[in-house]
Amino acid sequence: MKRLLLLNGPNINMLGKRENDIYGEFTLQDVEENLTNLLNEHGYELDSQQSNHEGSLVDFLQQANGKYEGIIFNPAAYTHTSIALRDCIKAMETPVIEVHISNVHNREAFRHQSMLAPVCYGQIVGFGLLSYRLAAHAFLEKNGEE
Ligand code: DQA
Repeated sequence: MKRLLLLNGPNINMLGKRENDIYGEFTLQDVEENLTNLLNEHGYELDSQQSNHEGSLVDFLQQANGKYEGIIFNPAAYTHTSIALRDCIKAMETPVIEVHISNVHNREAFRHQSMLAPVCYGQIVGFGLLSYRLAAHAFLEKNGEE
């Protein structure tokens, strides 16, 4: 079966307990269940990983390379800082879509900055839980599944 990886960075495990006006009331488990259902309908499986550590995220990406149709990645705060994640994604063959729940372009100035967007297959921001679903649809479309 074809597979996508959902990868989430620091504090995304705290969804539901973070600022609801910015991040919504849904939890990471809600995201995982929602995406799993969507992908199963299209004959895909979802694996899911979350880490608060930059190096662990690099490890997950390296281990996932070549094993997935695509990676839906919310790097959270590391998007604004991480050269290590950028170098990793740049060297990968598996496409990565950068996802953010909030509209990072309308927030504090430093959040406008994405280290990762230039090396990602795409970037989706500002649609809450729907941001993740849009990324899944982009991979399904890329593979001619819809
Ligand atoms: C976030 C945006 C980041 O700026 C922030 O540090 C996060 C969440 C988002 O999904 O909106 O933790 O990645």
